[in-house]
Amino acid sequence: MSLLTNPLTIVVVVVGIILFLRKWKQGGKVSSELLSRNLSGKTVIVTGSNTGIGFETAQQLAKQKATVIVACRDERKGRDAVSRIKQSTGSNQVSFSKLDLGDLSSVKAFAKSVEKEDINYLINNAGIMMCPHNTTKDGLEIQLGTNHIGHMYLTQLLIDNLKKNKARIVNVSSLGHQFCNTFDFDNIQGPCKMHNPYYLYGRSKLANILFTNELQRRYGADGIVSYSLHPGNVATELARHFTLYNISGYLSYFVLKTPWEGCQTTLFACLCDATKIRPGAYLSDCAEKTPTENARNEKLGKQLWEVTEKELSKFK
Ligand SMILES: *[C@@H]1O[C@H](CO)[C@@H](O)[C@H](O)[C@H]1NC(C)=O
Ligand SMILES: *[C@@H]1O[C@H](CO)[C@@H](O)[C@H](O)[C@H]1NC(C)=O
Ligand SMILES: *[C@@H]1O[C@H](CO)[C@@H](O)[C@H](O)[C@H]1NC(C)=O
Ligand SMILES: *[C@@H]1O[C@H](CO)[C@@H](O)[C@H](O)[C@H]1NC(C)=O
Repeated sequence: MSLLTNPLTIVVVVVGIILFLRKWKQGGKVSSELLSRNLSGKTVIVTGSNTGIGFETAQQLAKQKATVIVACRDERKGRDAVSRIKQSTGSNQVSFSKLDLGDLSSVKAFAKSVEKEDINYLINNAGIMMCPHNTTKDGLEIQLGTNHIGHMYLTQLLIDNLKKNKARIVNVSSLGHQFCNTFDFDNIQGPCKMHNPYYLYGRSKLANILFTNELQRRYGADGIVSYSLHPGNVATELARHFTLYNISGYLSYFVLKTPWEGCQTTLFACLCDATKIRPGAYLSDCAEKTPTENARNEKLGKQLWEVTEKELSKFK
């Protein structure tokens, strides 16, 4: 029998490939030094933290003694997440506050509910992905409305608080921003059926990066530090509308990150030294990366900010 057809050789090669894939998909890791930093006295808001990366992020920061506000749409799931975090970390500084980013009046009520806190970290993590054409409660295209406009409104409502505390703002964007090669500003309202859900997802994620850049330009001088990031391809509920999701169930063990692996770059963005990692940067695998040309376009960033402000002014 030749070496190549020897069953043992085949088994060794297959196991080797599997181990390589597992290692490769894990990506960057946060140093244990950052993960042991004492965050006692710091307050953190994590949007969409009832599950997935948001949950892991909230849990880790609670473990580091931060006061954590779990912000999500579903009250039962949110309270359940709070009790799981309390149990696993032994912290009693974890609470729930309702936030539906697809409903601007809910965003306003949420901002009011946390106005007494000194907010040190705002982690805009919540997101929906490639869902069917639809609109938010306020009639905005659902993906841009939830992923970008809802978060922008939240950030704006909290801006004085964030400035006062020289807060860090972290925006979970995605490599998906590459799906959007133009920016179509004219179709923010309504379900926007002229584009497919992949494009619309990409558009909302491009908006996250443009906003991080613009926010840094506008408020950097006030001491605010903001980062946007790509968490990697993570096996979470986010992908529930993605057609490959079901097939990927079997593949996911090898190619998708677990939520803990997926929250590494978010934790890194919260904890890294802003004198070493340029404020406003786009991060992936715990390091600065260069997003697409559109995402770096200052003019687009400014334009998007203005269009969004105009949209929001209708709800004030
Ligand atoms: C963390 O910091 C707080 C307040 O600064 C202090 O009371 C506490 O002992 C510290 N905890 C640890 C584990 O260092
Ligand atoms: C659109 O959103 C509404 C309200 O959340 C929901 O009831 C409806 O099923 C959604 N439509 C589609 C096509 O997903
Ligand atoms: C995060 O993204 C939201 C929505 O795109 C935006 O409103 C907010 O200003 C961004 N924050 C930062 C720090 O980039
Ligand atoms: C995946 O399978 C579930 C049932 O197991 C089904 O309800 C869901 O629609 C499927 N999702 C996709 C994107 O095909």
